Amino acid sequence: MRPFRYAPVAVAGAATLAFAVRAARTVLDRRFYERQGVLFTKTYPFIGSETDVSGLIGRNRTRDYLYLDKPAADFVGSIRGFDIQLYAVNRQTTEVLVSPAITGKYIDRDTPALYSFGQLSPSAMTFQKITTPHFGDRKRNLGKGFDQERVTDISRRRAAEMCAALDVDTPLDLKRVAGDYTREVMGEFVWGRDAMALEVSYKHPDGHVSKVPFMFALNETFTGLRFYSNRFWNRVHFPIATWPVTREARRLQHNIRSLQEHLATVLKGGPGPGTVWEQVAAGNTKLGIPVEITRDDLLTASIAGLDTVQNTILATLWYVLSPENLKWREAIATSTGEAKDEVVEACVSESLRLSPPGSVINNMVVDDLDMEVEGRRYLLKRGTRVMPNIHALHADYGAAWEPERFLHIEKGAEPYVMPFGKGRRSCPGRNLGMVMAKNFVSEFVTAHPDAQIGNAQDKDIIFNNLSHAQFIAVLGPAAAQGFAGSCPVPH
Ligand code: HEM
Repeated sequence: MRPFRYAPVAVAGAATLAFAVRAARTVLDRRFYERQGVLFTKTYPFIGSETDVSGLIGRNRTRDYLYLDKPAADFVGSIRGFDIQLYAVNRQTTEVLVSPAITGKYIDRDTPALYSFGQLSPSAMTFQKITTPHFGDRKRNLGKGFDQERVTDISRRRAAEMCAALDVDTPLDLKRVAGDYTREVMGEFVWGRDAMALEVSYKHPDGHVSKVPFMFALNETFTGLRFYSNRFWNRVHFPIATWPVTREARRLQHNIRSLQEHLATVLKGGPGPGTVWEQVAAGNTKLGIPVEITRDDLLTASIAGLDTVQNTILATLWYVLSPENLKWREAIATSTGEAKDEVVEACVSESLRLSPPGSVINNMVVDDLDMEVEGRRYLLKRGTRVMPNIHALHADYGAAWEPERFLHIEKGAEPYVMPFGKGRRSCPGRNLGMVMAKNFVSEFVTAHPDAQIGNAQDKDIIFNNLSHAQFIAVLGPAAAQGFAGSCPVPH
């Protein structure tokens, strides 16, 4: 019997030793990079810089804002769990990372997002390495489904319908409106009007289950997974986000199963004509790609333009409707045709510079990588997480919102920004996202040129995929009388 008494002690001892060895390796790796000139943010054993990140998230900012006060360095580092995470914080370093031709090697996908919304569609290209069989074909098939003319028609129609039907007598929750818009446009675009409206079983936050439209369940689950994975311990050790140890984790996993079962049936049917579903299914089937992978790429296409476009719209309207930017609001409201499109595009681009909805997706060094930035050499070890920090790059142009920097610029003189990433892993939905955001902003400002912001005095208003900030708009007579008070609705 005696040996059994000591078994738990032995297990605990072995676990402690393994933890200590792993922690020591992380400390040594950190030293290795510090010797090369990498500056590290304040980090704590194991929990890295997550305490500071929590403070940022509480103020509606993401972890990327830790690196805004750019130090004189090519890379800034932090520790995430046991991993070293390096961020390229200038243009030269970023170029080396996004152009494999420079070093002959590329870094490849390895993202904590797999434990977040990746639970919904683990095989989607977003989470796969570039060396995955058919990776390029899948990205091309998705691209073929992204018909620019069709998304323009759908988004223009929905923006016009929704902006004409807004209630002008009560304060408007613009975040909800922008969310409804992106969901309906993406749903119709990817699945078609019939399939997007099919109902699925959905467990609500209060625990009750009811049937709701597919795109609603998908959007809520996607957003819920992202917020859940950003809780403190889930950021320290990513897999914890997948453990069914909390009510919220079990609820989200219930809804993931429900959505996947729903799609298993739907995908046996025929896709609507012109839909992304039709293109991707046809292209993938020709190549013998399994239906689960097609499902996951379609899921990714359905969700990638939800919170991103919603927050692009909110950030842009916030700047455009701010009283100090009146000339831009007037320029949008009074211009037409191509001139209008150019002004709106400049406003959206500048908002994406100051408030990118997300960061690029994380990558990892696959093979030890030797690189040089203006004569400074770095050896990045296999297994190191590394990505450009787009917030730091964008901050080079200052904190003022000035859309003119995107208007009438000579080729080559454009600001170096990358809200959609750069290189082979960049966003294939860039043009769609821009069209959707531009059409809503243009329609809203033209239909409601007197709209006012109702909650301008709230603290920490900034829009991105992790922000809880609200946007209350006041339209109609109250706005025309020059509403300038504090927020008229509780939130
Ligand atoms: C304003 C809207 C959008 C923004 C700001 C945005 C931004 C991004 C960013 C930063 C990435 C990561 C790029 C990288 O790691 O280098 C990305 C990837 C991706 N985006 Fe978007 N996106 C938007 C809209 C869309 C839309 C509408 C779709 C599709 C309908 C889409 C589909 C994707 C996909 C599939 C990937 C993964 C690509 C890969 O892993 O190779 N995005 N997006």
